[in-house]
Amino acid sequence: MLTLLFLLLLSSPLAHSVNQEGFYLLQFKLGLWDPTNSLSSWNNSDKTPCNWVGITCDASALQSVISVNLTGLELAGPFPSIICRLPFLSYVSLNNNSINSSLPGNISDCQRLQHLDLAQNYFSGTIPDSLSEIPFLRYLDLSGNSISGEIPASFGRFRHLEYLNLVENYLNGTVPSSLGNISSLREIQLAYNPLSPGRIPSELGNLTRLEFLWLAECNLVGQIPASLGGLSRIRNLDLSVNRLTGPIPSSFADLKSVVQVELFNNSLSGGLPLGLSNLTTLRRFDASMNQLTGTIPDELCKLPLGSLNLFENRFEGTLPESIARSPNLYELKLFKNKLTGELPKELGKNSPLEGLDMSYNEFHGEIPEGLCEKGHLEELILIYNSFSGQIPSNLGKCQSLKRVRLRNNKLSGTVPDQFWGLPHVYLLDLVENSFSGSISSKISSAYNLSNLLISNNQFSGSIPRELGSLGNLNEFSGNDNKFMGLIPASLVKLTQLSRLDLSDNNLSGELPVGIKALKKLNELKLANNKLSGKIPSEIGSLSGLNYLDLSGNAFSGKIPLELQNLKLNLLNLSYNQLSGELPALYANENYRDSFVGNLGLCGDLPDLCPRVGVSKNLGYLWILRTIFILAAIVFLVGIVGFYWKYRTFKKNQKGLAMLKWRSFHKLGFSEFEIVECLDEGNVIGIGASGKVYKVVLSNGEEVAVKKLWKGTKRKDDGSVEPEKDEFEVEVETLGKIRHKNIVRLWCCCNNGDCKLLVYEYMPNGSLGDLLHGSKSGLLDWPTRYKIALDAAEGLSYLHHDCVPPIVHRDVKSNNILLDGEFGAKVADFGVAKVVGGVSKGVESMSVIAGSYGYIAPEYGYTLRVNEKSDIYSFGVIILELVTGRLPVDPEFGEKDLAKWVCTTLDQKEVDNIIDPKLDASYKEEICKVLKIGLQCTSSLPINRPSMRKVVKMLQEAGPDSKSRSFKKDGKLSPYYHEDGSGQGSMV
Ligand SMILES: *[C@@H]1O[C@H](CO)[C@@H](O)[C@H](O)[C@H]1NC(C)=O
Ligand SMILES: *[C@@H]1O[C@H](CO)[C@@H](O)[C@H](O)[C@H]1NC(C)=O
Repeated sequence: MLTLLFLLLLSSPLAHSVNQEGFYLLQFKLGLWDPTNSLSSWNNSDKTPCNWVGITCDASALQSVISVNLTGLELAGPFPSIICRLPFLSYVSLNNNSINSSLPGNISDCQRLQHLDLAQNYFSGTIPDSLSEIPFLRYLDLSGNSISGEIPASFGRFRHLEYLNLVENYLNGTVPSSLGNISSLREIQLAYNPLSPGRIPSELGNLTRLEFLWLAECNLVGQIPASLGGLSRIRNLDLSVNRLTGPIPSSFADLKSVVQVELFNNSLSGGLPLGLSNLTTLRRFDASMNQLTGTIPDELCKLPLGSLNLFENRFEGTLPESIARSPNLYELKLFKNKLTGELPKELGKNSPLEGLDMSYNEFHGEIPEGLCEKGHLEELILIYNSFSGQIPSNLGKCQSLKRVRLRNNKLSGTVPDQFWGLPHVYLLDLVENSFSGSISSKISSAYNLSNLLISNNQFSGSIPRELGSLGNLNEFSGNDNKFMGLIPASLVKLTQLSRLDLSDNNLSGELPVGIKALKKLNELKLANNKLSGKIPSEIGSLSGLNYLDLSGNAFSGKIPLELQNLKLNLLNLSYNQLSGELPALYANENYRDSFVGNLGLCGDLPDLCPRVGVSKNLGYLWILRTIFILAAIVFLVGIVGFYWKYRTFKKNQKGLAMLKWRSFHKLGFSEFEIVECLDEGNVIGIGASGKVYKVVLSNGEEVAVKKLWKGTKRKDDGSVEPEKDEFEVEVETLGKIRHKNIVRLWCCCNNGDCKLLVYEYMPNGSLGDLLHGSKSGLLDWPTRYKIALDAAEGLSYLHHDCVPPIVHRDVKSNNILLDGEFGAKVADFGVAKVVGGVSKGVESMSVIAGSYGYIAPEYGYTLRVNEKSDIYSFGVIILELVTGRLPVDPEFGEKDLAKWVCTTLDQKEVDNIIDPKLDASYKEEICKVLKIGLQCTSSLPINRPSMRKVVKMLQEAGPDSKSRSFKKDGKLSPYYHEDGSGQGSMV
């Protein structure tokens, strides 16, 4: 009261003309920070506030304020409860601002409120019980905040609530059954909250007006209640990414208004229910990634479905012909089941098919000819089946095709001419079939072709020189075919080519001149052809070449000394007609197999080089004696050798048996291969925890292998450390994660002595090394911006989308790795912390984690971390990207980068901190990003935006700022999953 009086006194001289409601609104404005001055029209000299931005009054003579709509104005500060003094207020939207308090209990003073939209802010704390005392509330949206605790059971008291959206918060209770009392409800959206494991309350089935139920990733367990069949108006039912078990209830056949059903990624079992033919409005059905059995019902396929996804289940039987009659079908993904029979002949003839993935089933018969009849087909993926016959000729007219994978089938005949030249295809995989005929010269129009994989077929003829015009070609694998003639000279124009494998063909002639132009070549395999001439010395300048196999040809002349410049993982020149000396680097025992079968070759390897005949004038006896001695030596050597071999054999056996591998992805290589490749020549980094090797495996895949030092886990007092070691943490954390901005852990092995972690290889190394090294010029602003956004998305995933959330605890530029396109991924989870299920939020740590310059100030005295510490460290990375400076630098004196930036900005222009290497024309964008960095490094944790918000802000600061919005159809899943073709794709 006193404060109010004081305020009244203070402002009465100013507020001489505005009415009471306007006065309250001006108080409201005073309580907020309005950085863009968007409330400048709120002027106390107006009589009423009715013309102010965002304000609507009613039409009566009273002109009461009925609506305050301040969407997306960057307003910051605590929730201004004072607006509840506006007695007729019925509509409030502060959507997409930076309000950062908890929701006050007295919000129920807004008794007339019907519409309350506080989505996309920084609200924290819990939802006050009193909210349900607002009697006429119809619309409540609190999504995209940091609200925790329970969904109040008191919500059951709402009588008029139609719309309830709590998506993307930290709510940690369960779904209250009292929601089933709110018979007015039309939408319930609770997705992406770290709820405690709980069942779907069967009471929800009472909500006969419900149209949308979105419970994706809500930690739901148990069975789906049969009562949900009562949702007679439901249009969109999304229960995906939970841990639901048991069958899909047969009552689902009663959902007569349903358009979309999302059940993917649960543990549902049993068959699909009977009676689905009643669901005449159903268009999208996704029950992928469950343990469903039985057949795909004809009555489901008879519906005019647009999308049917049932992949990764245990369905058997055939795919009903009726599916081909749907006029809507655009997506059909049934991979990884046990389906048999033929595909419906008419498939695609009536449907605008875009994506078809039938991989890993037991289908046979021909590929239906009408798949692309409507001209929309982009993905045709049929790998690992028994399809036979030819590629239908009208697929050659399918200009929309982008990704074609037909590997491992029994297809044969020639590939239609035009099919080779489809302009948008970037992946053409025909490996392991019986195709014949030659590659058409029409391939010259396949401008986007990046991977041409046609090995293990019967292709013949010569390789067309038009192939040389495919500027995007990255891989050409044509091994094990019957190609003949020359390797076309035009191939040296393929500057993007990294893998060329034409082994086991009948190619002849010399290697093309100018091969050194293939700057990206990593693998050159031409074994077992009839190639001849000299090995060109220019191969030695292909600095990225790791595999060179020219064995089994007729190459002659000397081995060029320049080959010694290469960092090879495999060198095979055996069985040629090479002569002369071995280059010194290779003249040792390790390379014996690389050179055998070259009769003219001489080096220090005795049996490579046939000894010149023994002198003839020696006596008979001497010869006998020599033979005897030699025989004895051979015998002894044999015994010793055998024993040694036997021992190493035993040792290897033991070694192999003891290595326990765990893999987290489907691997295209054998884990045992890794161990053989760990030699010191391949070390690409040494850190506190171990060495990192780059290994190129025999299948051409590159991986990074971290070998952890053998560390004792004992503390000073000799007791065993209870904490898990780095290895376990990394494995447990990373093994489960699949996100495009988090480095993949392929597999690992731990046998006590030897701890290996095998990751995807990131060719551009760490951001720290690049940014602070001599090559920082590569990083222009758009690249740096993209890196910041990528890394932010990775961290946002860890904080908001992992259940339970993960705090990285060592976010720094050296742990941001860059792939070939400078796409960034978060790496190194050695000290990461899973924020436990019981006490989500702040966790006390026993050891200091993090690196100097990146550690949030509060950490120094509280030794407590939560995601806010990661956000601080991420802010430091932004400052590094903007300034190009190290997080700690003697030049800053006592300060670290964050402090230096702040103090410099207090005194000087922003130009003094922006990296001079950056193009000044980006200044505006750079400043926007800098602002985000400063918010993240705010010394008060509460002022730091959530990573989710950071992503949003970065997107808005980008060149083509488009802010993310929720997709109403409930498919806003950041999750990746492997599709049947082994490449990640968005759910
Ligand atoms: C509230 O403001 C936003 C943005 O200015 C606008 O799109 C929306 O329609 C407004 N809502 C109402 C009910 O006026
Ligand atoms: C849920 O969140 C509340 C409020 O943040 C917290 O006090 C409580 O411990 C959390 N409960 C669980 C089970 O995580």
